[in-house]
Amino acid sequence: MAAGLLNSGDEDLSSDNVKRHLSTRFVGQAFHYFPSVTSTMDVARALAVGGAPEGSVVLAEEQRQGRGRLGRAWLSPPGGNLTLSIILRPTLRELSRLTMVASLAVVQAIRQVATQEAAIKWPNDVLISGRKICGLLVDSQLQGEAVEWAVVGIGLNVNMEPAFFPEIADSATSLYRELGRPVERLPVLIALLASMEDYYVALRLGKPIQREWARRLETVGKSVVAREGNRVVEGVAEAVDDEGHLLVRRSDGTLVHLVAGEATLRRV
Ligand code: BTN
Repeated sequence: MAAGLLNSGDEDLSSDNVKRHLSTRFVGQAFHYFPSVTSTMDVARALAVGGAPEGSVVLAEEQRQGRGRLGRAWLSPPGGNLTLSIILRPTLRELSRLTMVASLAVVQAIRQVATQEAAIKWPNDVLISGRKICGLLVDSQLQGEAVEWAVVGIGLNVNMEPAFFPEIADSATSLYRELGRPVERLPVLIALLASMEDYYVALRLGKPIQREWARRLETVGKSVVAREGNRVVEGVAEAVDDEGHLLVRRSDGTLVHLVAGEATLRRV
């Protein structure tokens, strides 16, 4: 058993078994399972470039070079969490909202399977009790205004014990940590793929999913230190706009639009 894991990780997440339980029309209907890869983002990208259908999923038990946002590494011991990437083919307008789709899908899957209420930290971390349980990453390829492909990466901590990893011991959590018992990954995965499809279809139909996303954002209304590239902005996170940009009101009254980056709550 890998260090920091609370079960043996021997659940069957193979394509055949996953597809037996899937209730979706397209998300996960092409399912690629790997014991070990560099990063599911790399494998999904190659499949997307090769014309893989929308909804194709790449899931790996181990990532040797798992990637986080802002050039960070993604830490996940082999076999106990969910690390996957989903290939989508959205429009440019939909592309900017894919992190809303994925974060809402994760929140819903956690509610359904583990009866826990999660919050979203702008722009796309999912938290329980203020600790990160899931990180999301979106890669895409544009040709002019057209999106050739997008890949949504999801790293959901299921059975890891963050206390084993000093670098994330205080900031991360897992379903195991919240529930105090190991959690079967298959039902979580099945619920997650179904929620991904539901929210993605809602987005495509023009439904205002950004309102639900904004309601779930723990960041809005709080004092934050926000970073976008080299820019650091301190103020009150006043709102998010329809595209998910964060509006931060500085103490001098000016309003700053942040497109990406991260926002940490400020102790006042
Ligand atoms: C973050 O919060 O920094 C984003 C983390 C994204 C991690 C997932 S795990 C599956 C996919 N493959 C990767 O290498 N990264 C994403």
